[in-house]
Amino acid sequence: MRDRFDDICPAGAMVGPDRLRGMDPGYCEANRAAGLLLRPDSTALVAAICRRANDTGTPIVAQGGLTGLTDATATTGDQVALSLDRMTRILRVDPLQRVIIAEAGATIADLDRAAAEHWLTTGIDIPSRDSATLGGAIATNAGGVRVIRYGMTRDNVLGLTAVLADGRIIEEMNTLPKDNTGYDLKQMFIGAEGTLGIVTAAVLRLYPRPGASASALLACRDLGAAQAVLAMAQVMAPGSLLSFEAMWPDFYRLTTSFLCPGREPLAPGPALHLIVEVTGATQDAAQALLLSIFEAAAERDLVQDGVIAKSDSERAAIWAIREDTDLIARPLGAMLSFDVSIEADRIEDFLRRWDDARARDLPDIQSHVFGHLGDCNLHVCVALTPQAKQDRGRIDDLFYATLAATPGASFSAEHGIGLQKRARLAASKSPDTLSLMRQLKQMLDPKGIMNPGKVLDQAR
Ligand code: LAC
Ligand code: ZN
Repeated sequence: MRDRFDDICPAGAMVGPDRLRGMDPGYCEANRAAGLLLRPDSTALVAAICRRANDTGTPIVAQGGLTGLTDATATTGDQVALSLDRMTRILRVDPLQRVIIAEAGATIADLDRAAAEHWLTTGIDIPSRDSATLGGAIATNAGGVRVIRYGMTRDNVLGLTAVLADGRIIEEMNTLPKDNTGYDLKQMFIGAEGTLGIVTAAVLRLYPRPGASASALLACRDLGAAQAVLAMAQVMAPGSLLSFEAMWPDFYRLTTSFLCPGREPLAPGPALHLIVEVTGATQDAAQALLLSIFEAAAERDLVQDGVIAKSDSERAAIWAIREDTDLIARPLGAMLSFDVSIEADRIEDFLRRWDDARARDLPDIQSHVFGHLGDCNLHVCVALTPQAKQDRGRIDDLFYATLAATPGASFSAEHGIGLQKRARLAASKSPDTLSLMRQLKQMLDPKGIMNPGKVLDQAR
C-alpha cells in the first residue's frame, strides 16, 4: 500500500501498520487498523494523496483526535488513515474582524488559547477539547457545553477549505458575517464525517471573551423544576448563560463516587443536579448573577440546595463530575452511549418509558443519564457489564423503540452517525431524503473512496 504513495509522500509522513498498531487508538480500537497512516503537512499534499487514492481505488479515512463516539474514524487493513496532526498552525487571529483561521489539525483548546490572547473566545467547547481537532469538530458538527450560547459548530464556521476525492481543492475561506454568493457549499462538508471531502482549514467566528464566569451546582426536585430554572436563568441572565447541564441521580452518584466519595459538593440522592454557568464582566458580577438566579429559584422551591464555585479549583471539581463521563466505563472498559434530542416537554415521558421498558425487559441493565438540558440533548449511557455485552442488540433495540414513540426526537443530536448509527439513519429518513444523500455522495465521490461505509452504507 505504501508504494501507491511513496513518490508523493516523504517517508516521514508515512506510518506502516506495525507502528500504527502500537499507537493509542482513542475511543475505537479500529482507529489504528488501517494498512497505512499518512500525515500530510499541507493542503496541496492532502490533495495529491486524494487524487492518488482516487486513481488507485484506495479508501481514505480522515482522522482527528480519535474521541468520536460513533466509530466514524474506524479503519480496516485495506484503507489509508489520514491524520492532520502535522497541520496544526493557527494562521491568523483577527481581533477586528473577530475571526480565527487555522489548519484543521489544531485542537479546540489551541484555538481558544490563541483567541484568548486577543481577549476573544471561540464558540466551540467540548469535554475532549484538549485532543479534539478543528477538523474533527467540523466533520461531526460537534456540539458541546456552550451550544446554548454560541450554537453548534455549523453556526461557528464562516469558511473552510475542503479537498474532494479527485483532489480538487474547494477554497471557501470566507471571513465575513454575510456572504450570500450562491450555494453555501461549506455546510455540505460540516457534519459529513469525511464522506464528502476532507476539511484542511477553516475560519471560525470569535466572540468577545467574557471577563469572568461562574459555575453553580444546583439540586432540583425533578425535571420540571430544572426546566423552570432554565427558563428563569434565560430571563434573568440574557446573553450571559453559558452552559446549562443536567445529571440524573444515577449518573451523579456514580461519577461522584469515583471523584469525591464522602465529600461530594452536594450529597447524592433523588435530586436532578444541574451545572449552570454564567458570564459577567467581573468574577463578582458573575457570581452575584448566579446567586440571584439560585435565590429566586430557591424562593419558588425549584432548587433544594446549591453551591457556587468560589475558585478555579472548585469550578473544575464541579465540572469534572459532569465531564468525566469515561468513569461510567471505568470498571468495565466499555459503555454504550446514546445521544438523543427530545422536545423539552417530552423528555420526562421518554425517560419514564425508558425506565419502565428496562424494568420490564432488561432489569439487570443500569443506565446513566446526563446531558445538555439547555439544548434538549441527553446522553444515556449503559456500562457494558458482561450481561449488558450479551444483551447489546436488545438494549439498542429497546432504546430506539422507546425513542421512536417520542414524536420529533432525533437519534443523533451531536455525535453523528459513523458506523454505529448507520442503520438508524437508513430506517429513519424518507426514501427521497436518502436518495438525495446518496446522489450527493455519488456526485462528489463517485469511486466511493472517502470514508466509505460511514453515514451511508457502501454505494450500490
Ligand atoms: C459529552 C459528550 C459525551 O457531552 O458529548 O460529554
Ligand atoms: Zn455531549
